[in-house]
Amino acid sequence: MLNDDMDLVEPPQKSEVIGTGKGGVGKSTVASHLAAHCAAQGERTLLVCVTSQDDDDLGVKKHDRGRQPDGPSVLDGMGLYRAIHERSPLRPVQDVRPNLDVVPGGEAVGELIPLLMARLMGPEGVGVVLSLARAIQPIAPFYDRIVFDSAPENDSLEQLALAAGRHLFVPTRSDDSSINGMKRIAKNFKSVRRQLNPWLTVAGAFLYASNPSATLLHEEVKGDIRETLGEGTPILSTVVGYREKPARNARKKGLLFSEYAELLPTSAKSYDVAAGRATVADVVPDAIVGLTDDMRALTTEMLDYSRKASG
Ligand SMILES: Nc1ncnc2c1ncn2[C@@H]1O[C@H](COP(=O)(O)OP(=O)(O)OP(=O)(O)O)[C@@H](O)[C@H]1O
Ligand SMILES: [Mg+2]
Repeated sequence: MLNDDMDLVEPPQKSEVIGTGKGGVGKSTVASHLAAHCAAQGERTLLVCVTSQDDDDLGVKKHDRGRQPDGPSVLDGMGLYRAIHERSPLRPVQDVRPNLDVVPGGEAVGELIPLLMARLMGPEGVGVVLSLARAIQPIAPFYDRIVFDSAPENDSLEQLALAAGRHLFVPTRSDDSSINGMKRIAKNFKSVRRQLNPWLTVAGAFLYASNPSATLLHEEVKGDIRETLGEGTPILSTVVGYREKPARNARKKGLLFSEYAELLPTSAKSYDVAAGRATVADVVPDAIVGLTDDMRALTTEMLDYSRKASG
């Protein structure tokens, strides 16, 4: 099945894939915050959302952030779909934040699945899994860092991202189905690494959205991670706390946690809501401060682990 003279594509030195085979564990939230953190530190950064559900944490579509490239719309996953369909370079939305460009996910990314399946049967064979890596190659020199958000519960899309990046970060929650989700990414990781991307390594795994004081539980999850991903898997020490309300509100507003936290001083209070002067949506929860600090600690630690993985 494999072709001897297939050209492999070496991923950019600083390219991070956030992935696990379970939905709703925090992949998109972490990917967008990691990309924004790198951009804020001065790295020219590209976030590529290889997911058919566009959560739009950065407000690209909902709040019209960034500059759309010339030509047909790249929103709703159309840019990613078109680049792979037409075998052309990706055209990101530019300057969604200073130094940060984004290839948005969305419905059209789901349409890649039948396209990839059809091409898999043709002369390209498994090389089709390198489609995203190839679409990135011409624009990679413009960036210092590329971050991939990956799709849950879809092997083809997960493999596309794994074939295009160098470091894999695996977030998980503590429940059994999240642990099972890691088994799926472990399987895809092994086959992509063996057949198409020998540069791929697991840079780290981490527990996401959990009660920070549940240390016994954390130890158990670390055991589960090592059992699933291998004894030598680096495990990050930061555990971002479970804080549903500020996380949900920030996403709705298309704001990073740190940006949402800046609204705290001017926030309406619960008594304003009770008096009918404001709506619940105008109240910024105090917990955004802790959430911002946790996320900053996590993204800082991720970059540390990424450096270690590079050797
Ligand atoms: N620290 C947190 N505490 C509680 N909820 C959170 C936290 N961070 C993110 N969330 C919320 O958890 C939900 C899932 O997060 P997210 O979309 O990032 O996960 P995902 O793994 O990308 O999901 P999918 O697999 O559907 O793409 C979202 O509603 C998000 O707002
Ligand atoms: Mg997601």
